[in-house]
Amino acid sequence: MADETRNILVTGGAGYIGSHTVLELLNADFQVVVIDNLSNAFRGKGHEKPECILRVEKLANKQVIFIDCDITNKKSLNDIFQKHKFFCVIHFAALKAVGESCTIPLEYYKVNVAGTLNLLEVMREYNLKRIIYSSSATVYGVPKKLPLTEEMETGNCTNPYGKTKFMVEEILKDLCSSDKAWSVISLRYFNPVGAHQSGQIGEDPNGIPNNLMPFIAQVSVGKREFLSVYGKDYETPDGTGVRDYIHILDLASGHVKALIYQKTKNPLGFQAINLGSGNGYSVLEVINAFEKASSKKIPYKIVDRRSGDIASSYSDASLAQKLLDWVAVKNIDDMCADTWNWQQKNPNGYN
Ligand code: UFG
Repeated sequence: MADETRNILVTGGAGYIGSHTVLELLNADFQVVVIDNLSNAFRGKGHEKPECILRVEKLANKQVIFIDCDITNKKSLNDIFQKHKFFCVIHFAALKAVGESCTIPLEYYKVNVAGTLNLLEVMREYNLKRIIYSSSATVYGVPKKLPLTEEMETGNCTNPYGKTKFMVEEILKDLCSSDKAWSVISLRYFNPVGAHQSGQIGEDPNGIPNNLMPFIAQVSVGKREFLSVYGKDYETPDGTGVRDYIHILDLASGHVKALIYQKTKNPLGFQAINLGSGNGYSVLEVINAFEKASSKKIPYKIVDRRSGDIASSYSDASLAQKLLDWVAVKNIDDMCADTWNWQQKNPNGYN
């Protein structure tokens, strides 16, 4: 008989974090249905499936079922649940650019909040009450104390994107209070960077990258002239912003560990868990590490602070170790080497 605990629905599986997680799920022998609306992914040439999924299938030597589906369309979600039976949903599908969320907030609330509500309603209808949610360290707002631990206050987010992540966590908490059968793990990511070591899959930002590592990567291959360093007057050792960078494969394995935790321990209720390395690196330290990994000079200019940025953020990741038996194993040199490898092999991303 088929082992139904192996069937996983991954929403947003064609994105950066989604695609690496799908690979790790296949490697751990899970069967994966990916849904994605391709708002941030390219179809493979002459193919229905996105290019990143085709590459994941090749790396894993296994197939996934791909369905072009938008989570804001409840009917199409319903059709999928009618056809497939899942053990758990890993929910990545969302819009994620902080700056953009300030210019088109309604779209962010529609996809991230209303889309998630659709998903939860359909799950409830089919009596599937297990979900791993893609949350963010952004829910902590401006940290009062570091490192950040899960019981610290959340909210006070400075932009609509962050607010959507916070709101969905609140919705999930209320849902768990109302119905004790739900099992919700909300993984709060710190700063995911890097790529699979093969250089076959990686981060492929739309347009000008918002985030530090993909921007540095584009400077390294000459696509951008220099990096703007946003502020050198923060209260940090060298004055530039400090973040907890985590290798994308460590992040992906955190999802597999969360799934195994659900399978083996059947935890009920809402549980937030930080996924970070626990180490903080400044912008200048990341530039140095990237120069070392790539043997390329990264020209940069110090400019004004970016509005909404905080000085420092890093995690206490001990709860993930305790509950999930997970720790980040890759360091900043691995993150830079793998980003460089991906960028060199795919200067134009998947296109
Ligand atoms: N930075 C630069 N120049 C750039 C881009 C970034 O100096 O071109 C600096 C930022 O000021 C910050 C650091 O590099 O100090 C990291 O910035 P990122 O944009 O890479 O990451 P953030 O920490 O600002 O944002 C990330 C995610 C968000 C999430 C947030 C909080 O991208 O989705 O962490 O969890 F909301």
